[in-house]
Amino acid sequence: MKTESVLITGTTSGVGRALLERYVRAGARVVAVNRRRIPELETRFPAVRFECVDVRDSDAVRSLINALCLTGQLPDCFFLNAGINEVDNDESFDLDAYRAVMETNLYGVLHFVSPLTRIPVRKKPLHIIAVSSLASYVGNPYGLGYFTSKRSLSTCFDVWSKMYKETDLVFQQVMLGPVPSAIKTMDQRMSPWVAKTRQLFSGDLSVAVEAMVSFAETTEKKLFTPRRAVPLYLGMKLTTGLFPVLPQDKRTLQGHARRKTGTKPAEGG
Ligand SMILES: NC(=O)c1ccc[n+]([C@@H]2O[C@H](COP(=O)([O-])OP(=O)(O)OC[C@H]3O[C@@H](n4cnc5c(N)ncnc54)[C@H](OP(=O)(O)O)[C@@H]3O)[C@@H](O)[C@H]2O)c1
Repeated sequence: MKTESVLITGTTSGVGRALLERYVRAGARVVAVNRRRIPELETRFPAVRFECVDVRDSDAVRSLINALCLTGQLPDCFFLNAGINEVDNDESFDLDAYRAVMETNLYGVLHFVSPLTRIPVRKKPLHIIAVSSLASYVGNPYGLGYFTSKRSLSTCFDVWSKMYKETDLVFQQVMLGPVPSAIKTMDQRMSPWVAKTRQLFSGDLSVAVEAMVSFAETTEKKLFTPRRAVPLYLGMKLTTGLFPVLPQDKRTLQGHARRKTGTKPAEGG
């Protein structure tokens, strides 16, 4: 069935922005949820309902869902797309960066799911789509929060897709491979050949968006896009199987090398 109304989080750039443009072109009713107002965007898309909500704020998200329900404007499909990627496990583990990633990528989705599972049963399906990542399978030692958040998200959505099977709630997830966007990647921490390989398997943003749009019209559980990233995933899975911990910087924030226990500190160290 063609999707007539959607809610998309994180439409200021990248995947969310491309989804917004795609659904506006198709004449759908769109609710765009962003943490900041972008006047140019609002002027360009006057028919879109822009909501200024930070997905980390559970009360604000719940109020938004309640308001949409009360006015009979709850969309048919939720693309819970907003996400960030930070280096949080560099020389030392950065708890604040890790927390920010978890609060955005994981809780920023769960804040929507909780009120949506409490709404009255609907006659038509309500799609709740998490934008997860191939990173949820393989991870990256420098972006521990990103890996953990996406893996937790996938686990939750795997459970909910089974639990709510054959009900009005359709839980789906997109395992997005590399596609060009504004999101920070860990490329700067990787050797150049890893970054090049990633680029080689990168998909086109508009192709990924078309795949997501058609996916929202089915009850399939998962979508891998770009499909050409599947060999990349298998290669990464094999690599992490062979080398469970990738070589990582062991400096402290003060720049000293961390020593094995029992070894004497270097002269002057
Ligand atoms: N691009 C890839 O290769 C790739 C691969 C796998 C998965 N993904 C996933 O795809 C999704 C979209 O990423 P993208 O590549 O399109 O990145 P992007 O261009 O950086 O877009 C991220 C969007 O999320 C918004 N956002 C961040 N924190 C927010 C918050 N607390 N509340 C509301 N909105 C917030 C950003 O808003 P601001 O402009 O205000 O920051 C922006 O609109 C993410 O979940 C990402 O993990 C991307």
